[in-house]
Amino acid sequence: MKENHMSSIEMTTTFADQSMRETAQAILRANDRGGYTVPSAKLYPFQWNWDAGITALGWMCFDEARAWQELDSLFLGQWENGLVPHIVFHQPADSYFPGPEQWGLTHRTPPTTSITQPPLLATMVRLMRDRAKDNGLAKERIATLLPKLIATHHWWSRDRDPENTGLVVSYHPWESGMDNSPAWDVPLAAVPPTQREYHRRDTQHVDAAQRPHKTEYDRFVYLLDLFRDLKFDAARIYAECPYRVVDFGTNAILLRATNDLADLCEDAGLPDEARAQRARAEHMRQAFALLWNDDLRQYVSLDTRTGKQLVVPAHATFLAAYARVYDGPSATQQFALLERWIGQARFSLASLRPDDAAFEPQRYWRGPVWPHINWMIAEGCAHYGRNDLHDRLCADTRTLIAEKGFYEYFNPLTGEAYGGAAFSWTAAIILHWVLES
Ligand code: DGY
Repeated sequence: MKENHMSSIEMTTTFADQSMRETAQAILRANDRGGYTVPSAKLYPFQWNWDAGITALGWMCFDEARAWQELDSLFLGQWENGLVPHIVFHQPADSYFPGPEQWGLTHRTPPTTSITQPPLLATMVRLMRDRAKDNGLAKERIATLLPKLIATHHWWSRDRDPENTGLVVSYHPWESGMDNSPAWDVPLAAVPPTQREYHRRDTQHVDAAQRPHKTEYDRFVYLLDLFRDLKFDAARIYAECPYRVVDFGTNAILLRATNDLADLCEDAGLPDEARAQRARAEHMRQAFALLWNDDLRQYVSLDTRTGKQLVVPAHATFLAAYARVYDGPSATQQFALLERWIGQARFSLASLRPDDAAFEPQRYWRGPVWPHINWMIAEGCAHYGRNDLHDRLCADTRTLIAEKGFYEYFNPLTGEAYGGAAFSWTAAIILHWVLES
């Protein structure tokens, strides 16, 4: 059965805040596999990196010990070099492709993938600290997590920016978390399709029209095989991977996390590390000039194989607000752009500008609204004093989830719900943001 059919948890959803709160908590409890939360029961039956960070924010609203445990569980998969993998395979499950055996890392305990995801963990830890009622527990958990966060930030600088440009590269569209964004169409076309057979599982759970195309999966699989064949060697992958992209979203999220990590280091009495992180953040911020596109008047990603910008109007540009990149005039201009963009669809925020030729309102990252990205952008709007935009994003997120259920993503034109049902980060965003705003 497709996950689009309402589960019993979904059917309890009503407009009332209390009911939304209870439903969101019930979803997190139902998706709890004993210390880690699966994003959605069948579609994503393991622990994902950026899902875990956002899901921990949701747990923090009603079970602080469980929230910290989410991150402890994720870091069980951290590599010796600092990489936090994009999936940690704590327990076997056969409803997902590509599972642990595909990545060539079943000898690890727990097995993991060999790629990462948008680095938001330091920011989530900082937000969890700010929300904590049990400050003793927060201090104790942060003391354990901090060296691991520092190690992952050093890994980003060392392995993903070996030429010290200030911008980190991604080797797989899955690392962006925005798997099939039209921004990756050009660099992905340079990747050969795999010649081996494989069997997707995602389209057994969700309508294929809401998921990436086979042409994309052929290249997703080619890349994961390549990393295994190159023995996960950072220098060889940097030199040989045909897909090497500076993703604006990842860099914005990393910039924000680097400043948050610096704050955590200061609090913990690590002034040298805090200074180093601030210097790195400043280097990154200056390098963002390379990602500005004058025609679109927004930030875009960059294909480092060709040196060309990926000129696509993707909503990742507005993560610049979350990253605190704007000065006064650029904030005014970017928020005017955001207003125009919001005006093009009934529900904000479409992941691709709706008048773009590649816009598909139902296909994953090629148009749909994503609740957690709405939160990140709205948080940035509020930081710059644009509470009107914050409130609009929040109201649309609430309406979509209240009316359609706790789904993964939504059609910006009709509000139709798509992807995984009873979705963990959708529940977390309701708890952490929508019900608190
Ligand atoms: C998937 O399998 O669709 C995931 O997004 C990969 O992380």
